[in-house]
Amino acid sequence: MSSSFYSQAITFTLIVSTHFLLVAYIAGATNFYNDFDLTWGGGRGKIAGPGNMLTLSLDRVSGSGFQSKKEYHFGRIDMQLKLVAGNSAGTVTAYYLSSQGVNHDEIDFEFLGNTTGEPYTLHTNVYTQGKGEREQQFRMWFDPTSDFHTYSIIWTPQIIVFLVDDTPIREFKNREASGVPFPKNHPMRLYSSLWNADEWATRGGLVKTDWSRAPFMASYRNFNVRSAGVLPQSNMTRRQKLRWVRRNHMIYNYCTDAKRFPRGFPPECKVRG
Ligand SMILES: *[C@@H]1O[C@H](CO)[C@@H](O)[C@H](O)[C@H]1NC(C)=O
Ligand SMILES: *[C@@H]1O[C@H](CO)[C@@H](O)[C@H](O)[C@H]1NC(C)=O
Repeated sequence: MSSSFYSQAITFTLIVSTHFLLVAYIAGATNFYNDFDLTWGGGRGKIAGPGNMLTLSLDRVSGSGFQSKKEYHFGRIDMQLKLVAGNSAGTVTAYYLSSQGVNHDEIDFEFLGNTTGEPYTLHTNVYTQGKGEREQQFRMWFDPTSDFHTYSIIWTPQIIVFLVDDTPIREFKNREASGVPFPKNHPMRLYSSLWNADEWATRGGLVKTDWSRAPFMASYRNFNVRSAGVLPQSNMTRRQKLRWVRRNHMIYNYCTDAKRFPRGFPPECKVRG
């Protein structure tokens, strides 16, 4: 009786501790099965093996996409992406946070492919209450197709920061005091998709997708969400890095495109910093 009691107790302890180990392991590692749904593209989106990797693909018939099961309301979201390699002209990999409904908020990364050896364009935008038109574009300082790189969004009630490998490339500060709406009231889901946009993406549609290279593929790993904490509005290191990116890698900024705003720039462009 007592020996069986002990063996039962030991078995129970083993089960409990294995369970805790498993929970700790799952909490520490990405599991795309737990966090995401493949939403379109038939079998073109795939979660690999134990769930630590996801791939999207695009062929002549369709692209593919996924979205997070959960909604997030502020936080820091990191994901590693490896973009379509080779001749990726006409392909677009979108990676963004978005709320639902008409006056939706959105924080966008979009990667516009290019012909072999030519640089990708990293396109960013911020929608608040359904209105975007806040494009900024960058060239990356590395080849985003040869390896995984980390793309992050920090979202707090005060500020949105876009980061590439921990380097801030863009900030959108809360300027509600100057009449600029800020995404703050709606939780957002994380979405990504790989699709064909050769009507406009490469030199206004002049360069067409080379379907003989299909299927095109983008890969995802190391998804991580954590609390962003309180981010100081102004931080010397962040500001210096941002200045470096803007000076050397920014190729388009809506806030300097006077042709687009003949009646004056949007209010957030007028406030410094
Ligand atoms: C492709 O590369 C060319 C040449 O560097 C560049 O002018 C163009 O903007 C690039 N296109 C995209 C979509 O990034
Ligand atoms: C300032 O920004 C840098 C770079 O983004 C970050 O590593 C550092 O922790 C920040 N410092 C503070 C006090 O927030």
